[in-house]
Amino acid sequence: MYQAVRGTSDILPAEQPYWRYIEQAVADISRLYGYRRIDTPIFEDTSLFSRSTGDFTDIVQKEMYTFDDRGGNSLTLKPEGTPPVCRAYIQHGLGNLPQPVKLYYISPIFRYDRPQAGRYRQHYQFGYEAIGEADPAIDAEVIDMAWRFYRSLGLARITLQLNSTGCRQCRPGYLSALKDYYNSYAGELCNDCKTRLEKNPLRLLDCKEPSCQKIAESAPKNAGHLCKECDEHFKKLQEYLGLLDIPFELNHRLVRGLDYYTRTVFEIQPEEEGAQSALGGGGRYDDLIEGLGGKPTPALGFAAGIERIILNLKKEGVAVPATPGLQVLIAYLGDAARTEAIKLALVLREAGISVVTTTGGKSLKAQMRQANSLEARYTVIIGEDEVKAGTATLRDMANARQETLAIGELAARLS
Ligand code: HAM
Repeated sequence: MYQAVRGTSDILPAEQPYWRYIEQAVADISRLYGYRRIDTPIFEDTSLFSRSTGDFTDIVQKEMYTFDDRGGNSLTLKPEGTPPVCRAYIQHGLGNLPQPVKLYYISPIFRYDRPQAGRYRQHYQFGYEAIGEADPAIDAEVIDMAWRFYRSLGLARITLQLNSTGCRQCRPGYLSALKDYYNSYAGELCNDCKTRLEKNPLRLLDCKEPSCQKIAESAPKNAGHLCKECDEHFKKLQEYLGLLDIPFELNHRLVRGLDYYTRTVFEIQPEEEGAQSALGGGGRYDDLIEGLGGKPTPALGFAAGIERIILNLKKEGVAVPATPGLQVLIAYLGDAARTEAIKLALVLREAGISVVTTTGGKSLKAQMRQANSLEARYTVIIGEDEVKAGTATLRDMANARQETLAIGELAARLS
């Protein structure tokens, strides 16, 4: 028996109201903040991700779905949304438009992660990017948009974690302070952290091993090593967040798992579980577009995992609106009634009413069961007597009240 591939799932009709609810909130918040939709292909040249997400990140080292196509090109299923948007920005000359260019997307994302609750091999992200602006006011706006997006969904038990990772000028000084500190604990580090100490020291700070977490607690903080410009940027951002009334926690261990970040990084986390199950995260990436061959272009963005949002909506007991259900099921008995049912379905659909007619000559009882299972608002019943009289029985499924109407009256009545 075939099963969906490990770490992937089907989104059955019963789950769809959550997805429609979130998609609507995405469209609403994007409109409110002036973001326009972009869709990029499901796969890209592999090197786009190794050059941007970073050669030494878990994503590039362990999690990409990479394959050679029949022409021998190495392609990779999108493991995140930011590099493709930057590629599109450069490719289509969006730098010539008034800046910043504000774009959003909803996209499947593929990561060969260890599947568990909230962690999948295919998941969906809503993400947005503001490209072409260095002003910390835009950092505040991007964070404000993320915060209000979750709040508009009805999520209350969330926190905002904030940090600055500095820039090309000040980061080397911080990294060497971090390395000096960690070198004195080299013998106590987990194997992954021993490699991180060599290749990607910033990631030492967010290791999940309890013994490494203890060491990280007293590690030097980036905030103490920021250059004047980064320090001012970070202070301004905090001032603006205060103006916008957004509560945040400074978290010196928040570094995020992607290599391109500069200055601002942030995450929205559920109150109880914290970083292991971040609801979304983002930050500034002022060097990325230049690194991909574009002009120097400051930018920042954010992305949220939709499945994790749904898990948290359920956990917090947020009721989502039901999607409009079926309006009418037409049940009938006998061949002559079937002809009437087919004609009536057409008339009702032309009047904009959703209709299902049963098929296969089922008993009336089976047809009523089908109406219940499809949650039809009304059932129209046509039997042999009704055909002769040119009428039909209209049954209100909410209260089981029935009335007999001329077939020709039904469309107007149901409208
Ligand atoms: P990220 O933190 O890697 O950031 O992913 C964003 C969000 O996607 C996470 O916070 C989480 O909610 C969700 N997510 C990630 N991996 C999985 C998974 N395996 N299963 C389910 N959900 C997952 C980025 O991808 C950046 N591109 C965000 C960004 C945009 N930075 C700047 N602009």
